[in-house]
Amino acid sequence: MSESTRRQPLILVLHGPNLNLLGRREPDIYGATTLDEIDQRLSHIAAEHGVELSITQSNYEGALVDQIHRYGWIAAGIIINPGALTHYSIALRDAIAAVPSPAIEIHLSNVAAREPFRHHSVIAAVARGTLTGFGATGYEMALHYLLDTIRQDGKANGD
Ligand code: DQA
Repeated sequence: MSESTRRQPLILVLHGPNLNLLGRREPDIYGATTLDEIDQRLSHIAAEHGVELSITQSNYEGALVDQIHRYGWIAAGIIINPGALTHYSIALRDAIAAVPSPAIEIHLSNVAAREPFRHHSVIAAVARGTLTGFGATGYEMALHYLLDTIRQDGKANGD
């Protein structure tokens, strides 16, 4: 759909490097749920609430930055699990800071309880908030938060 004809609110969902391997990748840490299953759950909830999702997984920093540039001006929010980029990507941080859409940072695992290099996020300070350690449910929590903000904005605009 072209941006000018869009009627439904849009939420951007971004999955960073290695998250395409979910279900097979260190399941003791990341769980058995696949990325497809997460995306299907999110799509189902979004459809029930009349919201459109744009979902991208990429192993490339620039591809994620491009999606933020494309949708960060029009999306009602961004749900992003930056994967390892969380810990060092200033480019991703700057892209999130550049656009008005609020970003929710997600981690399947509780990064605070893992190796020290995972304790620092360069994204957290430019995110609306961070959900870490709730597994696949964290994505749904973020979506419900953004659906709430869409409802509040609708009320404020008299919809
Ligand atoms: C992760 C945590 C990161 O430290 C790691 O590099 C990932 C996944 C998580 O979802 O728990 O790839 O973001």
